[in-house]
Amino acid sequence: MPQRPLVIANWKMNPRTSKEAISLARNIATGAARTRKNADIVIAPPYPFLRDVRDVIGTLKLCAQDVSFEKSGPATGEVSAAQVRSIGVTHVIVGHSYRRAYLGETDEMTNQKLHRTLECGLTAILCVGEREREGADIPPIVGIQIKKALSGITKRQLKNVIIAYEPVWAISTNPDARPDTPEGAFRSGIYIRKVLTDLFGSSGAAAVRILYGGSVDATNVRAFCTEGNMHGALVGGASLSADTFLNIIKNI
Ligand code: PGA
Repeated sequence: MPQRPLVIANWKMNPRTSKEAISLARNIATGAARTRKNADIVIAPPYPFLRDVRDVIGTLKLCAQDVSFEKSGPATGEVSAAQVRSIGVTHVIVGHSYRRAYLGETDEMTNQKLHRTLECGLTAILCVGEREREGADIPPIVGIQIKKALSGITKRQLKNVIIAYEPVWAISTNPDARPDTPEGAFRSGIYIRKVLTDLFGSSGAAAVRILYGGSVDATNVRAFCTEGNMHGALVGGASLSADTFLNIIKNI
């Protein structure tokens, strides 16, 4: 695989205060500088902390957890891709399963958010994943999510898309969550690559980084990347402690 690993810290709606966010970000950035690990690190704090976090993370990249599907206008409470870009955001998480499950985000909305993100020159982290899996095969819903999300996206734009495969049942905040196996992640990579090849041809598909997400920690991350052939991880709960997150980076 061509690229170095990518690790994204998805803080979700944490921590509670700006002060805590600054301290967490600073500790991650300082520790990451010391590890000398050859990995790309991206931090996704809640919107109100983006600027504060930006100011202390040095060369790490800044990510928004969502953007509006609108460009501008009356979308009260929403935040646009252009707005987050203007304060230094380079990456955007699109279609996270929480938003799909609890905020009514449809594949069409995810598609529009992806367009807004890419039009602004930002990199999109497109989250896909099934709610349940029976047997070893990756369910077709994952392919449907990808096809619908990428509708109208050009091969050129695809270069700025990263896919995060996050089986919903594996996300740590869900009841009975358990991480997928490296073999499951490996199968997802083959499956996703095939869906992308059908849409964009093998050269387009080959360039897309695929990450695993769902109960990633320092003990399982390496297997997801080696045996699982993933390009990195989208980390939720384990990114809320600098030490734990830095151990993931060290072990990847
Ligand atoms: P988790 O979350 O690492 O806490 O399972 C991953 C995610 O929801 O992105």
